[in-house]
Formats: sequence, structure tokens, C-alpha cells
Amino acid sequence: MANEQDLMEKIVSLAKRRGFIYPSSEIYGGINGFWDYGPLGVELKRNIKDAWWHDIVRCPAAGPDGRPIQMVGLDCSIIMNPKVWEASGHLSGFSDPMVDCKKCKARFRADQVWIVHWGDQAKFDEWLASAFGNPTTLPEGYRARMAQKLGLAGYTAEMQEKVREILRLGRYQRGNQPPTYAKTVLASAREEAKTLAQLSNRERKIVANAIIVDSEPLSTYGEPPEDSQCPNCHEMATFTKPRQFNLMFRTTVGALEDPSALAYLRPETAQGIFVNYKNVLDTTRIKTPFGIAQIGKAFRNEINPRNFTFRSREFEQMEIEFFCHPGQADPWYEYWRDARFKWYVDHGLKSSKLRLRNHEKDELAHYARACADVEYEFPFGISELEGVANRTDFDLTQHQKFSGRDMTYFDDETKERFIPYVIEPSGGVDRATLAFLCEAYDEDEAPDEKGAMQKRTVLRFHPRLAPVKVAIFPLVRKDGMPEKAQAIYQACAKHLAAFYDEKGAVGRRYRRQDEAGTPFCVTVDGETNQNGTVTVRDRDTMQQVRIPGASVLAYVRERLHI
Ligand code: GAP
Repeated sequence: MANEQDLMEKIVSLAKRRGFIYPSSEIYGGINGFWDYGPLGVELKRNIKDAWWHDIVRCPAAGPDGRPIQMVGLDCSIIMNPKVWEASGHLSGFSDPMVDCKKCKARFRADQVWIVHWGDQAKFDEWLASAFGNPTTLPEGYRARMAQKLGLAGYTAEMQEKVREILRLGRYQRGNQPPTYAKTVLASAREEAKTLAQLSNRERKIVANAIIVDSEPLSTYGEPPEDSQCPNCHEMATFTKPRQFNLMFRTTVGALEDPSALAYLRPETAQGIFVNYKNVLDTTRIKTPFGIAQIGKAFRNEINPRNFTFRSREFEQMEIEFFCHPGQADPWYEYWRDARFKWYVDHGLKSSKLRLRNHEKDELAHYARACADVEYEFPFGISELEGVANRTDFDLTQHQKFSGRDMTYFDDETKERFIPYVIEPSGGVDRATLAFLCEAYDEDEAPDEKGAMQKRTVLRFHPRLAPVKVAIFPLVRKDGMPEKAQAIYQACAKHLAAFYDEKGAVGRRYRRQDEAGTPFCVTVDGETNQNGTVTVRDRDTMQQVRIPGASVLAYVRERLHI
């Protein structure tokens, strides 16, 4: 398999070429952080959402007590009363530090500026030595400030080396290529990518924080360092002081554009669930413990969208808010953490590439009692797919405070009144789609029409997720073969995603379906006219068997368990 950088390029290129994912509004040059799903992509994404909805809402498994879990669904509006975001803390706290280039007006996260500032290899090493090696050279209070922000007492030599590597990878991932030192970094990052993929997200976060902390002198001294350089226009020392940038997209509601009309596109679907929790309680017969699930769009004005669809500005979330008695929160948290991990394994992500990372105490948000990330080893590194958190009674308490509405739950049996604790498994549909695409991508060899071995690209999707389950071909466009193939196609299409193709050499039609991840291809040939049988070719083994044409649907369903 190609190196990780090449692999990602191949996946992005296949996604475009075969109609999985296109850059948004591409004919106008695209728009950073936005993507469109093509004919195969929309089927893949829909299959992921349908599988999740089926397994979570329609047919939930048994809980830790052995009883079926109570789950209901919800579909809330994207724009809500702005007070929601005041109560949730997003208005005051959902931000990143950013700087603007005064010359070209380009905007960067402060950490990018820092990277550019230290674009020179010698200075970079000098900084590492001073920051991590020799405390006496640090400005007064610097190490203490840093230790406090990072939640670390100090750095070991091993950590220092990791930090160095991650900084290089971070630079490489961002694709910034300032004139100096970029080539060396790219070359070394490529070699190091494998090792770096082993590093934990926490270590990366520490580094991201370290970078931000290090950009503090920009604000302290008022001006950026003289040797900082804009990655866009390459002008020297043109940055504004860092300032906080709220990631919520703003809009106005109604004809007036004054502050009273200000509203926000939701940055998460979760808050819609919290503000409807009482409605659900009052309009259903549900009792704790129960969950409310929602799939929907979320928007974040990420300063630095990257890694294909991994960090986008418009994306979909699949979120569960699970309400339970505070005394039951710990076992429910463990249940959801393990169940969500298993869901990804069950749908084809190799457990060797997945890991469950429990957050350290010092990493937890102030309201969270526990949190774990389901992480996947993407070609660009190990990154978060889904987070599972015990959010305590924080959100409901906040909404009770800001709305004045009673958010307590009364238990008829125990006569106890309490604000439920919430366990939140929160996943990204686009990240899951990308992970399944990366996992499915494979290259092997297959014989062409003349029997010569040729490279083959194949997407080995889990059957439940494959955009097309079966493709039906007539071998040639004569002798009644198209009519017979059409009849089989019609019979299949009523029950599962089927595809009909009669153009080109049959070998090439197989290859196209391999690239689409179609598990079975059925060919109607000369023998079909004699005895009614067709060939069925298996995507993964490339073996062909003959079965009666009338049995195709049953054959595919039985093997795909659908
Ligand atoms: N309600 C909790 C919440 O929103 P989060 O960790 O910010 O938590 C949950 O987001 C999930 O949403 C992530 O694990 C990820 O899968 C997805 N996600 C978050 N930001 C994203 C982005 N910019 N692009 C794509 N997916 C994103």
C-alpha cells in the first residue's frame, strides 16, 4: 500500500472520480470547508445514517439491566432562539484565538502564525530547547503559565521529542508551505507519519495548546515578532494581535438587521434535544432511563478546515442524549462508550485501527464527569470519530436557569424529583463516512480480458453500507440478454440498491463496480438463454458461480444479511 500521504490523495481522487464527494460549488473555485456528496456518496452516507437510526432508535439493543433501551427520535430546527446558545455556553466559550494579516486580510489561527514564526529550523530547535529544556532561559512565569494551561507539571525528554514530531506533522497537515524549511518538514513528516499515527490525541492537543500559549507574547508585546510571515502574501510582521473568534455562524432573522435579529446556525444538534426534553416527557409515556436521538446538520466556522471532510464547516452529527438517574450515570456511561465502539467494529472498521481513549481528569470539560473518544487511524493520523461523555445535569440545569422552566423529572415509583444526568454519544456522519471510505480502500491485482494481471482498486465496504448491493449486466447487447438482465434488475431494485449497465467490455464493468464497492455483479450470457442460469461474481474473492437467474435476489440477500 502506498505511503499515507499518497493513500489520502488516492482516496480523495477516487471519491471525486467515482461520484462520492465533490468540492462544493466547484465551478466557481469551491469554498473551503464545504463538500457535496455525489450519487454514490449520498447512498453511502444515507446507509450509515439509516444503520445508526435503525440500531439506536428503531431497534435498540438491551441495556446493562438486560431490558430493551427506550429511545425516541427528534428533528429540531437549525436556527433556535439565541438564548439557547447563551445557556449552553457557546456564546461565551466556543472560540479559537485568531490573527489577521493586515496586508492581505487573510485570517489564521494563532497557532498557524506561531508555526510560521518558527519556520526557521534553527529557531524552532532553539525554542524547543528553551521551552522544554532549560527553564532558566524562559521569560518569568512562562513555564508556570504553560504548565497551568496544559495541565502538566513539566516535560520529559520523551515528550519533548514527541512534541517536536507533532509540530512537524501539524505543519505538514496544514499544508502551509512558507519559503523556508517547508521541504525538509514535508520530507521528514512523510517518513515520520507512521510513528506519528501512534501518538495520542491528547498529546496533539497538548501541542496545540502549547502553540497557542506560545502565541501569547504576540498579545503581551502588542506586535507580532519581526520574523513572523504571512503564509498567504508572505509579507513580514503584518499580523494583528490574537483575539478570540467565535466559531458559530451568525445570521439575521426577519427583515431587520439590527442586534435584536441576530441568530446562529447550530454548532451541535445536542441543544435542540435538551430544549425539547420536557416536550418529549410530556407528550410520550417515556420514563427514565431513556434516550433522545437526532441526526442533523451542524455548522462551525472552523478557522482551519482540513483533511478532506474530516474538519468541515458544515457537517452532520448523529447524537444521543441519554437521560438517567444521577446514581445510574456511571454504568450507563460505560454501556454507551463500549456500545458505540462496537458499532464501528461491527460495520467494518478494523479494531486494530480503532481505539477507545478515556480522557484524563485534567482534559475533561468542567461540567463533564467522564469522557471517551472513539478514535480511528485515518491515513493522516489517529483522530476522533465520536465522543461519549457524561455531561452530568449541566445542560438541563443551565436551561432551567436561563428559561425559567422546570427541568426536573418526577419518578412516580420512588416519588423522587431530580434533574437527570445525561450521557451523550456524539458522532459525526461525515467523519464516519470518511473512515468507512478509508477502511474500504484497497488495491490488489485482477486479470484483464487477455488474462494479464492488472492493478485493481476496490472498495471493500461492509455489505450494509455498500452504496450499491448488486450490479446486473448483459454480456452483450443482443440475443435477448438485455431484456433478461433488465428483468433481474427490476426484481432486485424493488428490495435493494441495484444497478444496471450494458455498455463496454464486461471486465471494465466489473472494475467500475469494484471501485464503487458493489459486493456482487451478475452477468446474463449465452448460457442463460439455454438453461436460465447467470454468473455471480464476488467483489472480494473475484470468484464466479452460476445460479438460476430467478434466484439472484434471494442469493444476494442471504449473503448480505439484508
Ligand atoms: N454535542 C457534543 C459535540 O458536538 P464535538 O466533539 O464537538 O461534541 C461531536 O462533536 C462529533 O461531531 C465529533 O466527534 C465529530 O465526529 C463531529 N464533528 C465535530 N466538528 C466537526 C467538523 N468541523 N467537521 C466534521 N465533523 C465534526
